[in-house]
Amino acid sequence: MSDLFNEIDKRRTFAIISHPDAGKTTLTEKLLLYGGAINLAGSVKGKRTAKHAVSDWMEIEKQRGISVTSSVLQFKYKGYCINILDTPGHQDFSEDTYRTLMAADCAVMVIDGSKGVENQTIKLFKVCVMRHIPIITFINKMDRDSKSPYDLLEDIENVLGINTCPINWPIGSGKEFKGVYERNTKKVIAFTANNGQKEVEKEEFTLDDPELDSHLAYGQKETLLEDVELLDGAGDEFDIDAVRKGELTPVFFGSALTNFGVEPFLEEFLNLTTPPLARESDDGIIEPKSDEFSAFVFKIQANMNKNHRDRIAFMRICSGKFEKNMEVFHMQGNKKIKLSQPQQIMAQEREIVDEAYAGDIIGVFDPGIFSIGDTVCTPSHKFKFKGIPTFAPEHFCLVRQKDTMKRKQFIKGTNQIAQEGAIQIFQELDAGMEEVIVGVVGVLQFDVLKYRLNNEYNVEIIMENLPYQFIRWIKNDSEVDVKALDLASDTKRIQDLKGNHLLLFTSYWSIDWALEHNKGLELQEFGNV
Ligand code: G4P
Repeated sequence: MSDLFNEIDKRRTFAIISHPDAGKTTLTEKLLLYGGAINLAGSVKGKRTAKHAVSDWMEIEKQRGISVTSSVLQFKYKGYCINILDTPGHQDFSEDTYRTLMAADCAVMVIDGSKGVENQTIKLFKVCVMRHIPIITFINKMDRDSKSPYDLLEDIENVLGINTCPINWPIGSGKEFKGVYERNTKKVIAFTANNGQKEVEKEEFTLDDPELDSHLAYGQKETLLEDVELLDGAGDEFDIDAVRKGELTPVFFGSALTNFGVEPFLEEFLNLTTPPLARESDDGIIEPKSDEFSAFVFKIQANMNKNHRDRIAFMRICSGKFEKNMEVFHMQGNKKIKLSQPQQIMAQEREIVDEAYAGDIIGVFDPGIFSIGDTVCTPSHKFKFKGIPTFAPEHFCLVRQKDTMKRKQFIKGTNQIAQEGAIQIFQELDAGMEEVIVGVVGVLQFDVLKYRLNNEYNVEIIMENLPYQFIRWIKNDSEVDVKALDLASDTKRIQDLKGNHLLLFTSYWSIDWALEHNKGLELQEFGNV
């Protein structure tokens, strides 16, 4: 039993989230380097050219293996076992990010110091705050000219609506970057560029050390002393409870590329974060240290290997210990199953796992039985974890296949991609599956759908934009005669794959119209996948 406690106590599971190009990959590489999981940084993934999220994604599609290895990684550091969950860098995939955050106990947010919080990623970062887990910020690229640190912190506070607490403070940036002042040790750590090596000779100065003056550029010492006084006097006080509730984000400044500030970040990260958190279920709180195994599915990825057409369900273990070949109960399928080919990803290798513990992520072969949010548990103690909400789609398209002979592949493809949670599909009332209405949170998901149907299912599609912007599930579905509803002419009646009825609207005005003209009609914004 104490072995189980030990194993769980040393686990940390975090999602890493950033603007594209802010340095998420570079930081991940450097973290793996400290864990000894890779020998030389630069080998996590080969992409360097793709700038656009879709092309990036498609590129990744071409190299599925690589996308797997970069999506869940595990490494060991000073006795800790750390799981990193990668997230898509574009806000059009923010629902995917949200689901990944559900599997994490904290998040690391990487920001490019020269850019601050960029518009196109505000939504992504807000998703992070919605989860109410600790968010730790790494402001990267201080070796490049950056914005003022005060402005960067203000940006984060304004966008996220949470307070910031700098753990260290940069001295200059770009060519004038001289290092950081560590607020807890009250020491300056001098910047020495180091391209990827783990061992960095650390040069430290106290503030009254005369050597410090010669290390700094003209005027930097005065600015530093003023900054320190200001931070100690006026900044948000460090409060670990507020960090744990996701109300205060500790901020680190550094430069992942030159490996500056990465190890102190990692060390402090381990102090700031907790072992795996308990989870809510319909049978109360499930403690990670329970000796009963449980997990939930947060991500499904089909066709990871195109030749085998396989489908992997990623599960976050929430309690107990997983052992290979163990029999579990799949709640949503209402039957006992064996989790086959359980895999864990270590840097670039996929490995079959013999055992894994609460906090870990395993990928299992999915013969098409799992959906996002599903619970697996010990057959003797059955319960369901609280579901993962779906985001209301904001863009809609009518989609049909070009070649009517390909109907079967079209249905299979759209259904499978919908099961992965990458899109949501609906049908007009009483219509067949010749055409479907696809709803997405971000428009890039349409491109991905088109690309994947063509590439993986060999189906070309025609997409027609629909003017709807709002979707509502009919909450009291069983009490309402949907066909008899009195609706504005621009409102559409549809159903989801489970036969639930929904309405599509082009404006808030038509939502109000529907509610006013149909007394007793109840609408809700979110459904379940
Ligand atoms: P991402 O995963 O968040 O998209 O970012 P990634 O790590 O791929 O980094 C994006 C670019 O920023 C890379 O340059 C990377 O080398 C650079 N970079 C990352 N961290 C730092 C840093 O601390 N300082 C500086 N100066 N640059 C940094 P690239 O031009 O896209 O690739 P490459 O040609 O350098 O390989």
